[in-house]
Amino acid sequence: MNSGIADFLGIGIPAVVAGMLLLGLMVQRELGPFAGLGPGGKWLLSGALGMGLLAFVLKIGVAVALSSHPESTVDRLTRNGLVPPAMPDDGRGFANPMPPRPRQYVWETLPGQAPEPADNPSNPAKVALGRRLFEERRLSGDGTLSCASCHDLDAQAGGDGRPTALGIAGQTGPRNVPTVWNAAFQAVLFWDGRAPSLEAQARGPILNPIEMGLASPAEAERRLAADPTYRAQFAQAFGDETIAFERIVQAIAAFERTLIAADTPYDRFVRGDAGALTPAQRRGMALFESVGCVLCHRGPNFSDASLLGGEDALRYFPATPTRYDSKYPLLVDGKPGVWRVPSLRNVALTGPWLHNGSVDRLDEVVRIMAGAQLGRSGELMTWLDADRSLDRIDRSPLGEAQVADLVAFLEALSSDRLRAKAAASARRPSRPS
Ligand code: HEC
Ligand code: HEC
Repeated sequence: MNSGIADFLGIGIPAVVAGMLLLGLMVQRELGPFAGLGPGGKWLLSGALGMGLLAFVLKIGVAVALSSHPESTVDRLTRNGLVPPAMPDDGRGFANPMPPRPRQYVWETLPGQAPEPADNPSNPAKVALGRRLFEERRLSGDGTLSCASCHDLDAQAGGDGRPTALGIAGQTGPRNVPTVWNAAFQAVLFWDGRAPSLEAQARGPILNPIEMGLASPAEAERRLAADPTYRAQFAQAFGDETIAFERIVQAIAAFERTLIAADTPYDRFVRGDAGALTPAQRRGMALFESVGCVLCHRGPNFSDASLLGGEDALRYFPATPTRYDSKYPLLVDGKPGVWRVPSLRNVALTGPWLHNGSVDRLDEVVRIMAGAQLGRSGELMTWLDADRSLDRIDRSPLGEAQVADLVAFLEALSSDRLRAKAAASARRPSRPS
């Protein structure tokens, strides 16, 4: 028995007894004679007033019991059928009469360490070697490009600031360069998600004829093995001097797993610094959840393609037709493509945007997303002829103030350090065209 009920009984029972006695006395001595009642009448009046007192005390008793343990009481009431429980959907599409409150979206910060695969455990020597390899131009066919040529870690927040990549011998690639910052938290890599790990990803650009254009894995091994300082570094990182292509990509991946940037106003806000976001950014954060951006850009890395609890890595884009499809050629061979949901961390620093780098304003990207991915490009309601019902999902386009607030929130996802470095280099392309 809990203390509320014990208190109630301890005080309540004596109080009821005392109250009954008092009532009896009042009826016998005062009310009875005053109303001229006989002995029978006096007993009847005592009984009636006594019942009233008892009912009142019982009511207080119930209130005390309910307030002492609300959950279990309500739970018991529900099980006994006094309150209808929230009904599960019966699969025939009948609406739930008492829909359970949707689980609140939980905002999270990035962990300080990225998960690593069992077959490539990190160590400081491997990371140092990976950092050197990331900047190694000898890994490109003509010795002009390194990973860092396209993924400028400082001046361009891990991208290159161009619409699409500029590869070896001035060749332009078809896709925009995504940032490598926080890429270690993504479960699949590349715009179309075709690489399952950083190791798998790193094999691509070195041998890609329009990126670094190296002839073969053996050529990479041969070039590095000619340098004794590399042989020493491989020995420190892997235990022996063997310079194998697989080890090259493992070291690069280990280095990339250290490229974590969680020093954003958003992360500070979520850790409890209420002043870290401006009012516009806080409004944008609420909109980001309420209009449904979190359906795809969810979790601490703002991507459903994340290793941190992501579920549906790939989505159609554009999911519904809009006037933007032709304005920024968004269709691949006339059809929507299947793309990985990108992280939105540092997105304000890594324009131009989208897989083809066709949009150079972040507010325009937000309008495109709202229209193409959330259907917010037209009618507020649609008549569904098949089941003669109104689809009342809000499909009105976002207002300009809402777009501005969403952009403000996206800016709160920029690392302080990377923003400062990008500003210092005045956002010039890292290499002349
Ligand atoms: C010529 C420019 C260029 C060079 C050099 C280059 N990359 Fe990339 N990188 C790109 C482009 C473009 C993409 C996106 C390609 C795609 O999605 O099809 C990309 C994608 C990536 C990604 C995936 C990021 C994500 O979120 O999906 C990683 C990681 C990456 N590159 C690392 C590297 C490493 C490591 C090297 C050096 C071995 C390298 N890149 C060299 C242009 C380049
Ligand atoms: C249905 C899933 C989905 C929803 C909902 C969604 N997005 Fe996206 N978002 C994507 C995909 C997929 C891409 C990659 C598009 C591409 O390949 O060009 C993307 C790309 C972006 C980009 C560009 C990233 C870059 O690096 O170029 C931004 C910014 C963005 N989304 C913001 C938003 C905002 C803001 C909302 C809410 C208004 C939103 N998204 C809603 C799936 C979604």
